[in-house]
Amino acid sequence: PVLVVDFGAQYAQLIARRVREAGVYSEIVPHTITAAEVAARQPAGIVLSGGPSSVYEDGAPSLDPGVLELGVPALGICYGFQVMAQQLGGTVARTGAREYGSTAVRLADGATDGPLLGGQPDEQTVWMSHGDSVTQAPEGFAVLASSATTPVAAFASPERGIYGVQWHPEVRHSAHGQRVMEGFLHAAAGIGADWNPGNVIAEQVERIRAQVGDARVVCGLSGGVDSAVAAALVQRAVGDRLTCVFIDHGLLRQDEAEQVERDYVAATGVNLKVVDAADVFLAALDGVSDPETKRKTIGREFIRAFERAAAEVVAEGAESGEPVRFLVQGTLYPDVVESGGGTGSANIKSHHNVGGLPEDLEFELVEPLRTLFKDEVRAIGRELGLPEVIVGRQPFPGPGLAIRIVGAVTRDRLETLRRADAIVRAELSAAGLDEEIWQCPVVLLADVRSVGVQGDGRTYGHPIVLRPVSSEDAMTADWTRLPHDLLARISNRITNEVAEVNRVVLDVTSKPPGTIEWE
Ligand code: XMP
Repeated sequence: PVLVVDFGAQYAQLIARRVREAGVYSEIVPHTITAAEVAARQPAGIVLSGGPSSVYEDGAPSLDPGVLELGVPALGICYGFQVMAQQLGGTVARTGAREYGSTAVRLADGATDGPLLGGQPDEQTVWMSHGDSVTQAPEGFAVLASSATTPVAAFASPERGIYGVQWHPEVRHSAHGQRVMEGFLHAAAGIGADWNPGNVIAEQVERIRAQVGDARVVCGLSGGVDSAVAAALVQRAVGDRLTCVFIDHGLLRQDEAEQVERDYVAATGVNLKVVDAADVFLAALDGVSDPETKRKTIGREFIRAFERAAAEVVAEGAESGEPVRFLVQGTLYPDVVESGGGTGSANIKSHHNVGGLPEDLEFELVEPLRTLFKDEVRAIGRELGLPEVIVGRQPFPGPGLAIRIVGAVTRDRLETLRRADAIVRAELSAAGLDEEIWQCPVVLLADVRSVGVQGDGRTYGHPIVLRPVSSEDAMTADWTRLPHDLLARISNRITNEVAEVNRVVLDVTSKPPGTIEWE
């Protein structure tokens, strides 16, 4: 693999994704990794990520100097570039000139003939975010680029296979960023582009068969992408020995339960056990309007319902003579990195997730998506022939519509929200914006009423909030600037078609300070 050394910024995951987009498998490792540990993994290349610190700060994350002596091709990015400069004998200075945002860099004569920046325009716009600057490249290194305030914005020593850029090639604001990644991986390090998510299918099917043997497997489907793809992979591997359990908590959006019960089963042929638990969840949520209590209540009921269903599956297994020993989880790579794989990450968030199961369930876990990012999981889902409505589904919280009703949850309020939400989803899709938008929560302010007028009559209805956001990973987000005529169409349709709603408002808050969801 290519190892991405994490110096404690969100950027490491983005870098790992860009490496894979270039057709090379990548994994994230903490900066505390030793040279011997790196060598043991026989990496084809190493990328040092950016980070939030200054190399001069006390406790600034460092790197075993032996890593750059291993003879493995290496690329340093931002903070990683400065760590390289410092370790190899260059100069990193606190120039006091902070460079942040889109910045013009000029490539040095000859840089456009080299492997890293070969064929690139010699003036280009890149994304910078740094305080310190490299003022002198290490001996034997060629300076490849500079900006108005940074004399050494990129350097290279092709003989040593060591390259670095001060800017962030992994972010889309850097005009030729992906070409820098590819230049390093393919031209400089000579790594072929032969990895793609599709390769993972055959490999995982083998691995699952080896793990599970003749035993039976159970899997909880949520309607989301991750569990759907994980289950489909396991189904490929063990066929009928997998039973999926779908707890319909009655808090899904319009048609989503049918998409699991009908379309997913048609596509995969999976054994499905549906538990219609809507009444149980509604009864438990009766009168509850505090967001955290809603989450806890739903989490508790979910576990109860799942345990009961799993016990039935186990009992059926006992009859058939094959024990049910395994539980499929749709754990993704970012979860793995955040829970320890990437020590030193600055920003960690864990959600109480519905579908999070108690630890004392007596199953071993099968986690076929542990090494994958979300977009790769989607690619695998498509390759496995899953319905696009499931594979392309935007993130949707486990507690579902319950945390999009501000106020207590009732059957009627759910129905109102469901209809408004369906209109928004249909209009966004018709406008071709599904790719651009990360997700668009639609929120019913059930405890708020406002006066309106419709026909000749006064109305006293509820507002619906639209919360379209753009994001890379949900950690930060910006509100999406939707076209005004689209907003007008959505507003007209909702106020005309959903009687209880007489006002539609737009949430124009970024995250931070607002979270994506309202509860
Ligand atoms: P926030 O609201 O924290 O949301 O900005 C970030 C992302 O997480 C989703 N989300 C949840 N997902 N259980 C989940 O499975 C939850 O309780 C939950 N709350 C928020 C949210 O939709 C967004 O994608």
